[in-house]
Amino acid sequence: MEIRSLHPLFAAEALGVDLSHPLDDDAFGALRRAFEAHSVLVIRGQDITPAQQVAFSRLGELEIHVLKQFLHPEAPEILLVSNETRDGKPIGLGDAGHYWHSDLSYLAEPSLGSALYARVLPRDGGDTLFASMHAAYDRLDPTLRARIHHLEAVHDYAYRGDIQADAGTRPRLTPEQRARVPPVVHPVVRLHDGTGRPALFVNEGFTPRILGVPEEEGRTLLGALFKASLDPSVLYRHRWRVGDLVLWDNRAVTHLATGCPADQARTLHRTTIKGTRPIGPRANALAAA
Ligand code: SIN
Repeated sequence: MEIRSLHPLFAAEALGVDLSHPLDDDAFGALRRAFEAHSVLVIRGQDITPAQQVAFSRLGELEIHVLKQFLHPEAPEILLVSNETRDGKPIGLGDAGHYWHSDLSYLAEPSLGSALYARVLPRDGGDTLFASMHAAYDRLDPTLRARIHHLEAVHDYAYRGDIQADAGTRPRLTPEQRARVPPVVHPVVRLHDGTGRPALFVNEGFTPRILGVPEEEGRTLLGALFKASLDPSVLYRHRWRVGDLVLWDNRAVTHLATGCPADQARTLHRTTIKGTRPIGPRANALAAA
């Protein structure tokens, strides 16, 4: 196996990997290390079944998405990210990730990482952008960095769900779905639990406000952090080919589906790996005291 860098700051490609056969411990360990070191790992040219994707994704336990109507019929661990329809009904989440986000940051224990496998791609567009939240944090002005170090922010799926439902792009959450995803609070700066490296942990998709500061100041702070995380120097654009599997670290990057023409089909299979409660510098300092 060879790991080849795709960007000066993060993102790499793993060459010489065939996920249609079980990986031995050495190969799996090498991939796990590359994943933690580079945050986004691209594995091209794969021909795998849903069961093989599920088997490979077990860097941790897998999430079953709250939108049950879009789970793969053979493997509920796979969420269909798709704009295709069958019998007039969408087969998957057509607008998944059309805003910057870290998968499931609205859970008390957000996702550790996700694997997206390309099955059907449009002729035009359909790229995915990734932002390194480590690099975005490193680029912050030291005064701003000090200001946010001990702050916490709200992450809320219903906030995003209401925006999508108002735009008519997604069914409104049922009361039962809403009850399963109450708002949660996470540190604004997250220490990566594998490497200890700090990263910004806010995103436009799911973070409506910062706690403990006046509302206006919170909005300004969030605006500054979102801007820093979208600096072109911290972005990697993935141009998909059928058979690509991209594994990314939700503790370290945010991502955005850039979209494609509505009359061109796009279907990908996503597995989402469970993570742990985010720890920030404040919790770390308290634990050390
Ligand atoms: C996602 O946010 O999980 C989907 C990204 C994409 O479809 O490019």
